[in-house]
Amino acid sequence: MFLGYKRVIGITALLGWLLLGSCGTGGEEVCDSPLVANLPPSSFRSSSQLTSSHGPVFAKVNRREGAGGWSPLVSDRYQWLEVDLGKRTRITAVATQGRYGSSDWLTSYLLMFSDTGHNWRQHRQEDSLEAFPGNSNADTVVQYKLNQPVIARFLRLIPLDWNPTGRIGLRLEIYGCRYTSDVAYFDGSSSLLYRRSVRPSWTGMEVVSLKFKTLTNSGTLLHAEGQRDSSLTLVLEKGRLLLYHQQGVSSSSSGQLLVSVGSLLDDQHWHHVKLVRLSTHLNLTVDKNTRQVHIPAELSHWDIHQLSLGAVQSHGLQKPILSNRNFNGCLENFLYNDLNLIHLAKKKNHQVSLLGNVTFSCAEHVSVAVTFTDSQSFLQVPGLTSWSSGLFSVALQFRTWNKGGLLLTFDLPQQQGTVWLYLSEARLRLQINKAGRARLELSAGSGLNDGQWHYVELNSEQGFLSITVDKNEGATAHTRIPLPLTADSQLFFGGCSSSQECRNPFKVFQGCMGLLTLDNQPVDLIKVQQRMLGNYSHLQIDMCGIIDRSDPPEHPSSGKHCAGKSHREGVKWIVSVVNVVGVCHQQSKRSVRFDMPD
Ligand SMILES: *[C@@H]1O[C@H](CO)[C@@H](O)[C@H](O)[C@H]1NC(C)=O
Ligand SMILES: *[C@@H]1O[C@H](CO)[C@@H](O)[C@H](O)[C@H]1NC(C)=O
Ligand SMILES: *[C@@H]1O[C@H](CO)[C@@H](O)[C@H](O)[C@H]1NC(C)=O
Repeated sequence: MFLGYKRVIGITALLGWLLLGSCGTGGEEVCDSPLVANLPPSSFRSSSQLTSSHGPVFAKVNRREGAGGWSPLVSDRYQWLEVDLGKRTRITAVATQGRYGSSDWLTSYLLMFSDTGHNWRQHRQEDSLEAFPGNSNADTVVQYKLNQPVIARFLRLIPLDWNPTGRIGLRLEIYGCRYTSDVAYFDGSSSLLYRRSVRPSWTGMEVVSLKFKTLTNSGTLLHAEGQRDSSLTLVLEKGRLLLYHQQGVSSSSSGQLLVSVGSLLDDQHWHHVKLVRLSTHLNLTVDKNTRQVHIPAELSHWDIHQLSLGAVQSHGLQKPILSNRNFNGCLENFLYNDLNLIHLAKKKNHQVSLLGNVTFSCAEHVSVAVTFTDSQSFLQVPGLTSWSSGLFSVALQFRTWNKGGLLLTFDLPQQQGTVWLYLSEARLRLQINKAGRARLELSAGSGLNDGQWHYVELNSEQGFLSITVDKNEGATAHTRIPLPLTADSQLFFGGCSSSQECRNPFKVFQGCMGLLTLDNQPVDLIKVQQRMLGNYSHLQIDMCGIIDRSDPPEHPSSGKHCAGKSHREGVKWIVSVVNVVGVCHQQSKRSVRFDMPD
């Protein structure tokens, strides 16, 4: 079901819809201005264009310049059209139209959003993994209203299907309005401290709400202290958000865990957190998941005296929940009841103080990830023409929920054998199969299917071979091998291409990879995406599409709901026909279900 889906004929009807939209929202601010019509040419980019008159700048609804719209060079599922709105904007609807006077239009598409032009996030309507419906002719404008507004600067539209007797052809409009917010960046040692100067006249409902965005999977986000040395602390731990209560100054107590919500919250996308407390009833909401918590009775007449964000500022002597790990990332619209604390900090209000280096903008480190979506996914990268003498090194990071999967394979020169670096039983393994010689096997690490990023290195230096997981915090295994390792041909990540000299006796990899380096030089995945380097299939480049497996509210304890149902690993992935990484709890009509090959 596509709620809010409207098929609109011509401009008159379009206006009619806009008016309806404005009146129907019941007092909410109208947010449906067309955003694309007046954008300059520099705001449009695309994967390719058929000719210069089919460029992305011509993709404006109801315009006829150039060839009357955008068409890529080839019509396949690897094409995209990108619009830069100039700043983060509230987006409420999109509209598509075919290329003017042609038989080129889209029948379905995906939408991706981003703040930076990297690290895309696929938009899904609630209860649906499906694509957005497109057009049925070149003229009719089809509107699609998002059921939740999206805040983003960049939008990418990815055509999935098009008129079978035509090409991909598109004109586009985006509707929305200005978005203003107060943002602050915390570097891992800085903090914002709010001290209440007046007692509240009554102890009523307390509400704390904020949005955060981070790449770091652990750190203390928020610490609230009140009377009787009681405190509540919100901690990000391995990508999950945990709420702890601490009572008194007992040095042994490390706090009582009240609740845990979410997972993969270290994905560098914005997440909304809301804490609502009324007496001993507390609701913690992260994005769309709410957990109701009964907090200890001694907190029934408790109120917050001070709140710190980032590094814990405590006047008590409590043991920190996470020592020396503080929030590193961006925060937005941090509200305590009616107070906007970042705004007060900017205005140098006396109730708010900043410690360390806090900047009022969101500094983002951009790294390009790639998602391996299904059994046909692979990434092929040519080996270097000259590896530094005596040293061979390949490194990458990955995150997955599966216990098995191929990370990397390549052939050794002069038919000396094949190297496989793979996951099995959630451990990292290396196997070298040398023609006529015994196999070599190494293994390191464990529990690597926990959804966290793990950094893996394969090094060979002067006959000394090692595999390492997670650098200093992890494990390493090494051995002496008689020949120097090198790859003179192609390296395959995640799986094998059917048409190439590549064999994968293991499972395919499903999950995300990033930070790929050969000989310490980064592999440019954007070049791969532009088909200027290597080859790939069934990948989502510049996004990590691995899905949060935290449970629905009725099963709060385990994140292993999916794995627990079947004892075989990796089975029952539900992958939609549009190549998104499957989820366990949802099944949609157009989804296909398959078991992972053993
Ligand atoms: C928590 O959420 C439940 C369900 O939405 C609601 O009934 C309750 O009033 C909420 N409690 C607080 C303190 O907001
Ligand atoms: C403070 O942080 C900003 C953003 O990360 C950085 O550019 C600046 O150099 C830092 N200033 C100091 C004094 O460390
Ligand atoms: C790229 O991979 C596809 C899918 O396996 C294959 O059909 C194609 O021949 C490959 N292209 C090159 C240039 O290797």
